[in-house]
Amino acid sequence: MIGRLGPGLIIPGNGHFDTTQANIRRNNIQPMNLFSAELMDERSASHFKGDMDVERFKKLLERSHSKIPLSYLTITNNTGGGQPFRWKISGRFSELSHNYEIPLFFDACRFAENAWFIQQFEQGYGSKDIKR
Ligand SMILES: Cc1ncc(COP(=O)(O)O)c(C=O)c1O
Repeated sequence: MIGRLGPGLIIPGNGHFDTTQANIRRNNIQPMNLFSAELMDERSASHFKGDMDVERFKKLLERSHSKIPLSYLTITNNTGGGQPFRWKISGRFSELSHNYEIPLFFDACRFAENAWFIQQFEQGYGSKDIKR
């Protein structure tokens, strides 16, 4: 499946970077941004607005998994304003992708900053060393 190009395919992610999105479109594939509800809520004070909406991803997989050549995680979610992603949600995203044998790609452009946010603000990671 990977490497397949063309109309009818979808590449979902938490928020594709602008140039990534343009390259996906140029290959006649539909980029799909499954932004988190927290990102869409102006009043939300969440530290993790860059998460993916996992429930929407789950529904998309149930409906259209054969149309998905790969899924995509952008860390941090720069299209959504440089917002970080929770470690726990990335695990869920990875598990769901693998259940359908869909490769998960990382745009780990700002992974170090994201790791700092996880250490500072995600429950259970306060004592983790960012380097490991
Ligand atoms: C999340 C993300 N991915 C990729 C890139 C690099 O994009 P490009 O190679 O098109 O300059 C950037 C640049 O800021 C980015 O923020």
